[in-house]
Formats: sequence, structure tokens, C-alpha cells
Amino acid sequence: MQTLSGKKILLGISGGIAAYKCAELTRRLIERGTEIRVVMTEAAKEFITPLTMQAVSGHQVASSLLDPEAERSMNHIELAKWADLVLLAPATADLIARVAGGLGNDLLSTLVLATEAPVAVAPAMNQQMYKNIATQENLATLIRREFIIWGPGAGEQACGDVGPGRMLEPMELVHHCEEFFQPRLLSGQSILITAGPTQEAIDPVRYISNHSSGKMGFQLAEAAARSGASVTLISGPVNQRTPDGVCRIDVTSATNMHEEVMKLAPEHTIFISCAAVADYRPECISEQKIKKTKDKDAMTIRMIKNPDIVASVASLTEGRPYTVGFAAETQNLEHYARNKLEQKNLDLICANDVSVSGQGFNSDSNALTVYWKNGEHVFPLTSKNQLAMELMSFISEKIQ
Ligand code: C5P
Repeated sequence: MQTLSGKKILLGISGGIAAYKCAELTRRLIERGTEIRVVMTEAAKEFITPLTMQAVSGHQVASSLLDPEAERSMNHIELAKWADLVLLAPATADLIARVAGGLGNDLLSTLVLATEAPVAVAPAMNQQMYKNIATQENLATLIRREFIIWGPGAGEQACGDVGPGRMLEPMELVHHCEEFFQPRLLSGQSILITAGPTQEAIDPVRYISNHSSGKMGFQLAEAAARSGASVTLISGPVNQRTPDGVCRIDVTSATNMHEEVMKLAPEHTIFISCAAVADYRPECISEQKIKKTKDKDAMTIRMIKNPDIVASVASLTEGRPYTVGFAAETQNLEHYARNKLEQKNLDLICANDVSVSGQGFNSDSNALTVYWKNGEHVFPLTSKNQLAMELMSFISEKIQ
């Protein structure tokens, strides 16, 4: 990935033990073509020397507002204007507090005030300091002001405590930087995505459902948000973390999902129907738990058809979004997928062969063939995460 090539990152190091990782972070960023300038607080110099940071970054390190020599080579206002991104790593509780308070009592905090570049913060501190309400409120202030927060990670800490507060590892921060600079293929688009299974109640304690984990839909939502779209995710009952920046609405049954989708679809430019929606639901939901009886060896549940959500969206006459469906098949992939494309009036259908192990339901990987009226494209087996990025970039080309 060449997204970092030529990008200018101002690395602000404050005084935490994780500062020793900044040499590695700088090297990995420079390897990818980034230009780095380093600013250190006085306390940071106790953990890693300016000489080390100068050697790895290839530039003199600045740390004082009142250093005539540093001010001559690139003064603090020029430095603030130079950066495409300011990365505060490690960001101690003290630095976070000073930035949240708008202080400019050293070079680094002054630069944060003076820059128009986005500022990313990688918190690093003792877990109790991180959990402290003051730190949490300061972080909330920064989030409100559109600072980007990367981490912290959780685990064993230098002080022996265990919990949240570890600075993310250098490579994790590099990946965040890469994502940050990725071209925003879908900026200006609003994408509605459904994910997961639906549950169709039989009685107050039982339901009919399927094995969908929701992974693919959640990965798509994450990829769409990363590509700059505004994303609404309508999900059936799943155990998945809501991706950053995604607005999530939880539903249970196909009827609930249909209702929410129809309300929101006309406000969106793209609809991706990734949910495994139950085709039928019990005609009557028993108000009380259905009891087993001695004299009956069988029972019948009469099922009625659920609304076809994706077909309803595709048939909208006003505000119809570009509509993408999914087809999980066990045989005749192309034939069944093309039938659905036509019958549901979709713009695109993503078909996957769920008879092959390692792809589809509940798996971390997937392969897809997408079909549209006059063509097809194969996405070979890869992680759902990678596949989601590739699919979103493909959709962004299709809607041009
Ligand atoms: O017909 P089938 O269920 O295989 O079609 C799959 C596609 O249709 C998926 O995109 C799925 O989300 C959507 N679908 C729907 N509403 C239904 C059934 C399926 O939106 N009731």
C-alpha cells in the first residue's frame, strides 16, 4: 500500500515509557515514504534521546518554543502548517489534559493549537489514570473537537498493572496512518447496510433463525465508513462490535428490518442487503410458551412469507438507491444469482458458494462473484475484511 508516500507527519512525543517505541514507529513510517518531523516534550527526553529520534527521522528534533536554532530552521508556525497529520504518540494523561484545556505551555501543545492538520492521539498511561474520570472527560472533549483517538490497547503495563492504557504497537499505528490517508472513494455517499440473521418468534421463548454471524455486513459497514461514506447499519441479533463512525440500528425480525429499511432507504444513495433474512415467519406467535403434550407426537407451525426487503427497495419509484443484494448458494451459483438479480430488480448481486468450507456463514474469509446485467467479476478467497474493502472500491467505480 503506497498511501503514506509523500505524506508529512509531525510526531509529537510526550513523557511516557512507550516513547521508546517511537524509534521503531518512525522507521516503519519512513520505510513507507512518509516524511517525519519530531517534537518532544521535556519529559519525553527522559525516555528516549533526541539524538535517537534525530537519527531515525533524519531531521533535528524540536522541543522548546524558545530555541533560537530550531526556530531558525523551521519555526513552530511553519512546522504546524507543514504537517498533513499530527500524531501524538505516546500521549500521556498530562498531554491529553493540556491539549483538552487548550494550553500552549510548551512547543508540542502550542503546535497542536497552531495546526490546521488533523490530530491523532495515541493514549498511553497507567490503566487507573486512563480510567480516571478526568482523563475520560478530556478524551471526550478531544473526540467532540474531532481529534482522532487511536487506542489505547489493553494488557500488561510497564508498571505491572493490567488493563487499558498501553500505547498501540508501532505497526498498529502505521496501519491507522495508512487508513487515514487512504483515498476516500465513497465520500459524499450515504450507505445503508443490513447484516446478520433475523429471528422469527414462535412463542415468547422460541424462534426460527439461521447461522448468519453478521461478519460480512459489519466488515462492509467498516469498509464503507473507512472509504468516507456515511453509514447506517441495520442489524439482526449478532455478537459483533459496531465499527467506528457507523450508526447502528438493532432489529429482531424480518418485519422489523423491513420497516426500518423502508423508512431509511430513500435517504441513502446505496443499499447493500447483506442480511440473511428469513423468507417465512410463523403465522401466529403464541402469547404463552407452547407446552409439550402427551398425546401429540408432532406439531405443525404454519409459516407465511416475509416481505422481500431488497426487492421492496429496488422497486422504489422515488429515492431508489443503487441496490446490491447477496446470494448464498450451494449449487448453480451463476444461474440462481442471475435469477435473483433480475427478479428482484437489483443493480448488482454478490454471490457466494456456501457449500465450500472456509467461506460464507460464520467464517472469517469469503470469496464472491458479483454479477450485473452485462457482466461479472470474481473476488478470490480472502479475509472478509479485505474482501469488504475490495467490494466497496468496486461499488464506488460502478456508481460513477
Ligand atoms: O432470495 P434470497 O433470500 O436468496 O435472496 C438473498 C438476497 O435477498 C439477500 O440480499 C437478502 O438480504 C435479500 N432478502 C431480503 N428479504 C427477504 C429475503 C432476502 O432482503 N425476505
